[in-house]
Amino acid sequence: MWYGRRMANEPSPQAGVFPVVRPRRLRRTERLRRLVRETHLEPAQLVLPLFVRPGRGLAEAIGAMPGVRQWSVDRLAEVAGEAWDAGVRSIILFGIPESKDAAGSAAWRDDGIVQQALAELRRALPELVLITDVCLCEYTDHGHCGVLRDGEVLNDPTLELLAREAVSHARAGADIVAPSDLMDGRVGAIRSALDMAGFDHLPILSYAVKYASGLYGPFREAAESAPRSGDRRGYQMDPPNGREALRELALDLAEGADMVMVKPAGTNLDVLAAVRAACAVPVAAYQVSGEYAMIRAAAERGWIDEARVVDESLFAIRRAGADLILTYFATEAARRLKAGTTAV
Ligand code: PBG
Ligand code: ZN
Repeated sequence: MWYGRRMANEPSPQAGVFPVVRPRRLRRTERLRRLVRETHLEPAQLVLPLFVRPGRGLAEAIGAMPGVRQWSVDRLAEVAGEAWDAGVRSIILFGIPESKDAAGSAAWRDDGIVQQALAELRRALPELVLITDVCLCEYTDHGHCGVLRDGEVLNDPTLELLAREAVSHARAGADIVAPSDLMDGRVGAIRSALDMAGFDHLPILSYAVKYASGLYGPFREAAESAPRSGDRRGYQMDPPNGREALRELALDLAEGADMVMVKPAGTNLDVLAAVRAACAVPVAAYQVSGEYAMIRAAAERGWIDEARVVDESLFAIRRAGADLILTYFATEAARRLKAGTTAV
C-alpha cells in the first residue's frame, strides 16, 4: 500500500492497547487535527469543466445541474475569471456546436465553438491552463462518440476524426487535449497526428479508465450529447471490472499518454488507488455530473450540508491517489480552501 511500510523499530499498530493508546488524543482540537492531517488539497489541483455554446450574452441554466451553465463565448471569461480568482488554475472545455452531422465535423472546424472559446480564454486569462475534451458525441447528430454503422460505433475510422479534432484544438491554443471517446488506439493516433502537425510538445490527458456510468446523465443534458439510440456500453468500460482498468492504463501509457484519468471518481476509488500505484504519470479523477447532481439535490432539500459533503468527497478522491480533480464544485471548494474554511 502507498501508506508506507512500517519501520523495523516501530510497534505494530495493533500492539498498544487501551487505556494507554487513545487515538482520540490527536483528534481533540482543530489545531491538532490540522497538524496530523495526511492529505492536502489545493485550489490549483482542481479543474473546472465549462460548457460553451453558440450565441451572445448567454448563460443558460442546465436543469439537472443547478449552478452550472452553458456559456456563450463572450461570457466565458466571467465564469473562468471567478474560478481564477478563487485559485483554480485550469479548466476543461466542452462544446455545444451550432449544427451536428453524422461524422461530427463541427468538432474540427477552425472556427468551431471550442476553438473560439480557446481564443477568448487565452486572451482574457493568459495563464489559465486550457484543457479540451476530445470526443465526437457533442458533434454527431446520433450522439455517439464515433462513426456509426448499423448501430455500432466503428473503431478505426473514428481515430482519424478524433486526431483531426485534437490537432484543431492544438492549433486554436489548447494546452492539453483530453480524449474521452474510449476507442482502442486513440492515444497513439492522436499522438502521431499532433507530432506531424508540429505539436510534439503538447500533452495528452487520456481518459484511460472510463466506465459506462449512469452518473453521466446530467452531463448529457448539459452537453446535449445523449445518444439517440442505444448506449455507450459497447465502448466504455463495464463497471464490475477492475483489472481491465490496468489494461487500459498500460495501453494508454504505451501509446504516449502524459497523464491519465479515472472516471467517475467517487464510485471507483479502489480503481483510482490501483492506477496511482501502477504508474508514475500524474493521475486525474473526474467527479462527474451525476455526483455533482446528487450532492446538490440532497443539499437543496436540506438533507446534507453541501460544503461538508463536497469537501469530504474531494479529500476522499485525493486520499485514493488523484493528483488532479475535475469537479463542477471547483470554484466553491477553492474559495473555502483559499480562505482556510474547508468544511471537513
Ligand atoms: C464525452 C464525455 C462525457 C463526459 C465527459 N466527456 C459523457 C459521456 O461519455 O457520455 C461525462 C462527464 C460528466 O458526466 O460530468 N464522451
Ligand atoms: Zn463522447
